[in-house]
Amino acid sequence: MIVLGLESSCDETAAALVTGDRVVLAHRLLGQEAAHRPYGGVVPEIAARAHVEALEPLIVAALGDAGLTLADVDAVAATAGPGLIGGVMVGLVTGKALAHAAGKPLVAVNHLEGHALSPRLVDPGLEFPYLLLLVSGGHCQLLRVEGVGRYSRLATTIDDAVGEAFDKTAKILGLGFPGGPAVERAALAGDPRAVPLPRPLKGSAEPHFSFAGLKSAVARAAGAYSAENLAASFQAAVVDCLLDRTARALDASPGVTALVVAGGVAANAAVRGALEALAAERGLPFVAPPGWLCTDNAAMIAWAGAERFAAGMIGPLDAPARARWPLDPTAEPVRGAGVKA
Ligand code: KG4
Ligand code: ZN
Repeated sequence: MIVLGLESSCDETAAALVTGDRVVLAHRLLGQEAAHRPYGGVVPEIAARAHVEALEPLIVAALGDAGLTLADVDAVAATAGPGLIGGVMVGLVTGKALAHAAGKPLVAVNHLEGHALSPRLVDPGLEFPYLLLLVSGGHCQLLRVEGVGRYSRLATTIDDAVGEAFDKTAKILGLGFPGGPAVERAALAGDPRAVPLPRPLKGSAEPHFSFAGLKSAVARAAGAYSAENLAASFQAAVVDCLLDRTARALDASPGVTALVVAGGVAANAAVRGALEALAAERGLPFVAPPGWLCTDNAAMIAWAGAERFAAGMIGPLDAPARARWPLDPTAEPVRGAGVKA
C-alpha cells in the first residue's frame, strides 16, 4: 500500500509518499520562514498564497524521487485541519482533485492525528494504548491514544501552547523566528538557574498546562539578564512544567504501553531528555520521532492516512476544511482555551 500525503496547515508546504509497511519513499518540504520573518510570526494570507505556489511542484518532485506516478498510489491523504483555513483549503482541495482524477480514495487527516500517530511510523513495536504528550506551536495536550481515531484528552493548556511560548520568548529576547530552535541554541550557552521564573500549575491538582505567566515573567526579566541565561531559565521552567504534568497524567492513566512525545517542541533535546528519564523511572519505553518527523511534515500525514486506509476509515470526498478540530471532541472546554486553532 502506497499513500501520498499532503500538508499545508501552517507555514510548511509538504508532500510525501509512505508505504503501509513504514517505508518513507519520498518526503519533500518547503518552509516559508523567510516570507514570514519580517512580521515575526506566520501571516495567514501570505501562507495560503505560498502553499498554492509550492504544493504542486513538491508533489511532482516527491513522485519523481520515488519513481512513481499517481497511478501507483493507493490513496491520497491530505490535512483537513486544524490550522490556518486558507492553507488547509489549498492542500485539501488539491488532495481531493488528485484523488478524484486518479480514481483513488481520499483520506481527510486531522493534522494532530498526524503528529499523534507519527511515532508508530518509526517504531513498529509501539502498541496502543500509549500516553502522548503533544507539544506544538498551536497545542499542548496529554492524550491517551487508544487506537486510530480514538483519543482521550487528559490535559490541555488553559492559555498559550508551549511552542507559542517558545516563539514569544524568542521574540522578547530578539532571537528571531522561528523561535523554538533559536531558544534551544541560546540556552546551550546559558545558566538554567540564573533567572527565577515561575512554574505555572506545577503541582496543581488540576491536570492542565499554563504558559502565559511564564512568558510574561520572561518579558519582565528581559534587560536584567543575558538572552542566554533567560533562554536557559525559560527552557528549564518549561521542562519542569511538562515533566510535572506528564508524571501526573501517568499516575491518572494506568496500563499504557509507553510514554510518547510528538509535535514541533518534541524536537527539543532538553524536553526529550527529561521525558526519557521520566519514562525510565516508571519502567516504560520512551518513543520520540526523529526531529524532522516532529516538526510539520507530510510523511506523518501520509502515515496517518495509511493507518486510516488500513482500518477502512477513508473519505469522504466532501470532507470540509476545518480551522478547529479537536482529537477528543468529548473533552470538556477549559477556562481561557478555545480562542486559538
Ligand atoms: O508541530 P509544529 O511544526 O507546527 C504546529 O503544528 O504547530 O510545531 C512548531 C512549533 C513552533 O512553535 C516551534 O518554535 C516549535 O515547534 N519548535 C521547537 C523546536 N523546534 C520547533 N521548540 C523548542 N525547541 C525546538 N528545537
Ligand atoms: Zn504540527
